[in-house]
Amino acid sequence: MTFQAGFTVAIDGPAAAGKGTVSKAVAAHFGFAHLDTGLLYRAVGARVLRGADPVEAARGLTPDDLGGKLRTPEVAQAASRVAVIPEVRAALVDFQRSFAARDGGAVLDGRDIGTVICPNAQVKLFVTASAEVRAERRFLELTGQGHDTTRAQVLEDVVARDRRDREREEAPLKPAEDAVTIDTSGMSIDEAVAAAVAAVEARRG
Ligand code: CDP
Repeated sequence: MTFQAGFTVAIDGPAAAGKGTVSKAVAAHFGFAHLDTGLLYRAVGARVLRGADPVEAARGLTPDDLGGKLRTPEVAQAASRVAVIPEVRAALVDFQRSFAARDGGAVLDGRDIGTVICPNAQVKLFVTASAEVRAERRFLELTGQGHDTTRAQVLEDVVARDRRDREREEAPLKPAEDAVTIDTSGMSIDEAVAAAVAAVEARRG
């Protein structure tokens, strides 16, 4: 039992649903490469916060831009604001598609991987959880990194970002028709990873 060349696992879902953890674990389990596509939008958002034009920032993105401090609430909001701009999204498509086509298999996580970037992905997962559970997880993550915030603030940020992501015209956040939904609200990390690994196993050639 092997994977065909260019085997792609597309993992989409709302903010702080556990996509990152599940994606990394799935990639490690099968030996696939992993791309967190949210980082691309965060890198563009961070450059815009420093005064850049969003479209120019997206077109001129370099690997150096991905190394900065991108996992902050300010950068997350800036990312979701630049993510509504069609030219920004268009500038990031080729990089994501070439990553997905790598020989050894790839996991990409984001908002539009199964719907727009890799509509032919062999496996599509939609990882979600209730807004309250997601906000609690993000609150613990942020305070654990030393950020000074409140549960109410984090919930408000998560809800605002989800709304912007779901309601935008271009590549809105939604499950692909053939996606398997994993609701991680009542699951441990191990359970969520096991569900994702099982979904990939089911599609092995
Ligand atoms: O880690 P978290 O789920 O909070 O967010 P992220 O995956 O880092 O994405 C940050 C923002 O980038 C999202 O709120 C989206 O607006 C945008 N994004 C997108 O539009 N399309 C993607 N494929 C990935 C992220």
